[in-house]
This record gives sequence, C-alpha cells and structure tokens, in this order.
Amino acid sequence: KSYEYILTSTPKPGVGQVTLNRPKALNALCTPLIKELNEALNDFNASDETSVIILTGSQKAFAAGADIKEMAPLTFSEAYTKAFIESWSLLTTQVKKPIIAAVSGHALGGGCELAMMCDLLYCTETANFGQPEVKLGTIPGAGGSQRLTHAIGKSKAMELILTGKSFSGAEAEKWGLAARTFPTYEALMEETLKLAETIAGYSKVAVQACKEVVNKSQDLGLRDGVEFERRVFHSLFGSQDQKIGMKAFAEKKKPEWTHS
Ligand code: HXC
Repeated sequence: KSYEYILTSTPKPGVGQVTLNRPKALNALCTPLIKELNEALNDFNASDETSVIILTGSQKAFAAGADIKEMAPLTFSEAYTKAFIESWSLLTTQVKKPIIAAVSGHALGGGCELAMMCDLLYCTETANFGQPEVKLGTIPGAGGSQRLTHAIGKSKAMELILTGKSFSGAEAEKWGLAARTFPTYEALMEETLKLAETIAGYSKVAVQACKEVVNKSQDLGLRDGVEFERRVFHSLFGSQDQKIGMKAFAEKKKPEWTHS
C-alpha cells in the first residue's frame, strides 16, 4: 500500500515497521497522517505475519508535534464535536501487538505523546523530548500530562509541562521513560530491530498477553492488577504454546511455536 505521510515495511519476518514520513514539516502529526498511521497499524495488527511493530520517524525528527498550523484556527465547538485527537487513541486501544517507538531527533508535544503511547521506547542519547504546549497557550492533549507523570513522577513532569523545557534521550532513560538509549541513529535502528526480532521469536499468544498485563498496571491498583495478571496467567494453560514451551525446556529443545 502506498501512503502520503508514512512508509510501511517488513524489515524482518514477523516485524512490521511504520516510518513517519512528512520530512518538510518534521513529521508534524496532521489529521491525515494519523489516519494513515491508524490504517497501517490496524493492518499489521490484523496480519498473521506480524508479531511486533516498530514506530519510528527520521534521524532528525520522530515528530515535532501535532500540526500547529492545522490547530491554530480550530474553535472549541469544532474540536469538541469532532472529537479532535480522539482518533490518536486507536493505537492504545485497538493494537494488541507490542509497538516499539524508536525515537531520534525531535519528539515534541504530540510527538512525545505518540512515543509515550507506544509499549516500549528506545531512543538516541540526543533525542529531544518535550511538552512545549504551554508556550503555545495550550496544554498536552494526547495523554502527555498523564503518561509523563506516570513514567517520571509528578514533580519532574510538572516542571517539564509548566516550563515547556525539552529533555534529552539520556535524561529520558535516567528517569525511566526510555528503556534504553544509543549513541548513534544507526545503533538505535539496529538494536530496535534486534529487540523486535527477539519478540517475534516467541509465541504470539504469550507476547500479546505480556503486553496486556503490563499495560493493565497503568490503569489498575496493585491488588486488582495482580489478580488480573493471575487470571491471564491461568488462561495461558489453555494454550498449546505453553505446553510446547515447557516441554521443549524439559527436553532441551528449541520450541516450535504454533501461535495457538
Ligand atoms: C506544524 C511544524 C511543526 C509543527 C515544525 N513544523 N514543527 N509545522 N506543526 N508542530 C514545520 C515548520 O513550520 C517548518 O515549516 C518546518 O517544519 C521545519 O521546521 P523549522 O522550525 O524550520 O526547523 P528547525 O529550525 O530545525 O526547528 C525544529 C523545531 C521547531 C525546534 C522542532 O520546528 C519547533 O519548535 N516546532 C514546534 C514544536 C512544538 O511546539 N510542538 C508542539 C506542538 S503542540 P516551513 O514551512 O516554515 O519550512 C502539540 C499539541 C499536542 O503537539 C496536543 C494534542 C496532540
């Protein structure tokens, strides 16, 4: 399929990749781009060939934000009745396969929020994160005030959101927002692909369940979360891959997953 604002590819078996590709605007996230992104993610989510998805931008920009020029003339009633930005949430509600964000360059405003919606974040040490909305007379609108606060704590999130100051990939890792950082763009992309290949080597059923239970921890209290995890854990005894995986361990063999 060909798109105007994104590229899709399958860099390794089981690995789907979406590359934001609106270089003239540093991948500013206009509504048509989000529509294409949702379409591509839905296709990878539905495909039996895909286990895990990489979402990335260019070396210079993951995404420099929601499209400021598109937002500038919007009125309250238009934003409210057309549920502006709501469609961004498809990524978090409909896609059951893990999405890895590979962030280089700018990840500002909606770009930072999009990266934080992903299940796992890798970035370069010099990646440029931030929620600069306050400088534009507004606030984060795609979950930034919530996800950043969950990830790095209230005091730091408050400082960043009230000042609009940027923070680096190295800081994002130190504060727990990024899982890992890399010194170069090439290393970032290489290691992201290796990570995706590792995940693609496991049972799709187990992988989907891992994503589901970890993400539940963001919405539930500890007690409910642990109970939810146990229910899902129990349910996996109903999968073939649990039998295959444990039998292979006992026989010192490599498991041949059936993904069922
Ligand atoms: C629309 C954007 C854009 C954006 C960059 N561009 N960011 N267009 N929306 N968010 C456009 C510029 O207008 C310019 O177009 C071209 O991309 C290149 O950008 P420059 O500014 O010339 O590049 P540079 O000098 O390298 O500076 C990079 C930058 C700067 C520091 C990232 O572009 C910048 O500050 N961008 C805005 C960042 C921001 O405030 N993001 C938050 C947006 S609010 P022309 O046509 O002039 O070449 C937001 C709200 C989220 O995201 C809430 C709901 C999702």
